[in-house]
Amino acid sequence: MKDEVKEMFVPPPYPYEQLNEFRVAAESLPGGAVDLSIGTPCDPVPEIVSKAFVSDSSIESARPYPASVGSDDFLKAVSEWLNRSLQVEIPQTSIGACIGTKEIVTGIPSLLKLRTPAKDTVLYPAVSYPSYLMGAQLASCRSVAVPVDDNWRIDLSGIDEADIERALCLWVNSPGNPAGAIENLAMTAEWGRANEVTVISDECYVEFTWDSDPKSILQETKKGVIAVHSLSKRSNLAGMRVGFYAGDEEIVGYLREVRKHQGFMLPGPAQMAGIAALSDQTHVEIQKKLYFERLSKLIEIFRSLGIQAVMPKGSFYLWIETPDVDEWGLVEMLAKNIGMVVTPGEFFGDQGKGHIRVAAVAADDRIELLAQRAGV
Ligand SMILES: Cc1ncc(COP(=O)(O)O)c(C=O)c1O
Repeated sequence: MKDEVKEMFVPPPYPYEQLNEFRVAAESLPGGAVDLSIGTPCDPVPEIVSKAFVSDSSIESARPYPASVGSDDFLKAVSEWLNRSLQVEIPQTSIGACIGTKEIVTGIPSLLKLRTPAKDTVLYPAVSYPSYLMGAQLASCRSVAVPVDDNWRIDLSGIDEADIERALCLWVNSPGNPAGAIENLAMTAEWGRANEVTVISDECYVEFTWDSDPKSILQETKKGVIAVHSLSKRSNLAGMRVGFYAGDEEIVGYLREVRKHQGFMLPGPAQMAGIAALSDQTHVEIQKKLYFERLSKLIEIFRSLGIQAVMPKGSFYLWIETPDVDEWGLVEMLAKNIGMVVTPGEFFGDQGKGHIRVAAVAADDRIELLAQRAGV
């Protein structure tokens, strides 16, 4: 799809609000709805994080304006985490804080366009997190959905030369939402270098991989790439809004400077919580195990309903083909029959039609309830 933006911008309906009628149907079952639509964490905030958040130094950090780029301690914690978890060495000057990552995902295109006015196009995977497209629209950029292959990985051979010429950036997401695919980041980085297109790699599920080690684009190169990371999923901190971006010294340096002027600042106490979260891996391992078990249980539930579901390569979503029934029909059937609320694949792009996405984000007893209802 190629959008030439010429008309007044009218925000589209917020996708998840379209599921309200199914939430009501699911809620009417005894025991209520089990909402597996939005990928919001359901487990407790790790104790190490909540303690840091309410500490005296955290409360004191609420007084002054926080550094927009992130405090020295925050940037040090990020740099150490990148080194420990992803074997990436990166100076603190090539990292910047963001207020969760959705704001940077939707904000980067307009800043890149200001920097390179001759270019106007955002490339993003045809089946992906909808905010890549929204970021292009908010920047009045052209958006070009790049087809994905049979394994839901971006197919870089499918991009027109003319679109490459005009591209400000290419988004890649690994492990991917919604399909959990692991991208070939070496190839993607090389494509970006060869075509002189900035590659932005959204790595918010990086530690949730099920049969491989976590991979970052920063392991391939720092030149011409940016990795975007979030603490929302790994540390059950979606409400704290802690994220960061890191990579190419010049691009990150530019973003850090503009964002100072925009007034984007990660609150001091959120930075303190982020430092504590990044310094601890134990809670991530516990969380990984929980998600893996829940995904396995959900696969069993779907199989008992006669629906084929397989473990993704990464992330905490099941991406399920609905060949014999239209996806909205399955969304309705699951809500009415077993009280499960799921997301239709079209929310992630036209190529996502004929699928549903199921987030393993309900507590074990709620998933058990689904199993009972499904007769597992
Ligand atoms: C692929 C992807 N990127 C980014 C985000 C944004 O996360 P946050 O804004 O909480 O950091 C999400 C949230 O679901 C996501 O799935």
